[in-house]
Amino acid sequence: PETITVQELANRMAARGGEVVKALFRMGVMATLTQSIDADTAELVVQEFGHRVKRVAESDVEIGLEGATDEDTDLESRPPVVTIMGHVDHGKTSLLDALRKADVAAHEAGGITQHIGAYQVTVPDGSRVTFIDTPGHAAFTAMRARGASVTDMVVLVVAADDGVMPQTIEAINHAKAANVPLIVAVNKIDKPGVNPDRVRQELLQHEIVVESLGGETQEVEVSATQKINLDKLLEAITLQAELLDLRANPDRAAEGTVIESKLDRGRGPVATVLVQKGTLKQGEIVVAGAEWGRVRAMLDDKGRQLKSAGPSLPVEILGLSGVPTAGENFVAVEDEGRAREISDFRQRKLREKVSAAHTAGRGTLAEMLA
Ligand code: GTP
Ligand code: MG
Repeated sequence: PETITVQELANRMAARGGEVVKALFRMGVMATLTQSIDADTAELVVQEFGHRVKRVAESDVEIGLEGATDEDTDLESRPPVVTIMGHVDHGKTSLLDALRKADVAAHEAGGITQHIGAYQVTVPDGSRVTFIDTPGHAAFTAMRARGASVTDMVVLVVAADDGVMPQTIEAINHAKAANVPLIVAVNKIDKPGVNPDRVRQELLQHEIVVESLGGETQEVEVSATQKINLDKLLEAITLQAELLDLRANPDRAAEGTVIESKLDRGRGPVATVLVQKGTLKQGEIVVAGAEWGRVRAMLDDKGRQLKSAGPSLPVEILGLSGVPTAGENFVAVEDEGRAREISDFRQRKLREKVSAAHTAGRGTLAEMLA
């Protein structure tokens, strides 16, 4: 079950910590500011704090406490979300391109692809896989710092001719810290004289034990440019996804994470969001970070207009009031009033953070916002 500290709950309700402790005491729960309480108790406290606070805070509690409103029986299988990481020039982009070309659905759509930060491919067995187009290590760190867990697994690309390098190690550490499984893709095996065994040995030094050495980490030898074993890599991903038994409730208000965003000359603020729970529908009102708006249009990575988007689907949304920051969450809400309320609440929190950063007189703005 998900938990939240008393202090954090107080922060989210913009209430004093002491008041929350008192409310808990009245409910028969003894807790200090640093102690954690479960989602149900948190919800009761939120209700205790009355209507206005409840409306603002409840959605934040919902966002923060993953799964708090989803019964097991509502959950349905969803595609895995995969991030490709690895050292510079080891072939991450080439591999993503190759996997994208292997998408059976892309050909049906006439191959009109546009660049968005995440996309979904349909693999030959009919299942789907969502790839996050290399957020880079810095973006990954920033997302984790914001508490956004977007990826279900990491595909670690290691070039066979170069072996384990500093950013390979960094990626391993990220995956471990985020507690997500890793699949090793030993790339560039088409190059003459390369030695994949060396890569396996080097990985061993970083506690990554691949299957051929008796470990549990799946590995696939691939060539992104020569398109060798891409099907095997997709199979490994699908197998890992089955083991993880990934589920989400499609029949609820949509919730997810902003993957990237930009201000488009003609279209205004455009955000690529990953729907993680529920289903987002065109015309709905969403809050994304501290921005909000009615979803005027929704497009997939092939440029197709969508009416709805379910769990694990990345979509571009148009209609927001401003450009939200990558890594922030988004949620569909019932009306404009609530959207304004949440957005005001978040902008106030943002201002508080900024002024706190100012007072503290250290660190960059970006660091404080992370
Ligand atoms: P950064 O984004 O800069 O970190 O690099 P990257 O990991 O995305 O690597 P990228 O895909 O740009 O590939 C780097 C170079 O390696 C390019 O010149 C690719 O053509 C080459 N390359 C990628 N995959 C393969 C492969 O399987 N075989 C061979 N021979 N070359 C490859
Ligand atoms: Mg690249």
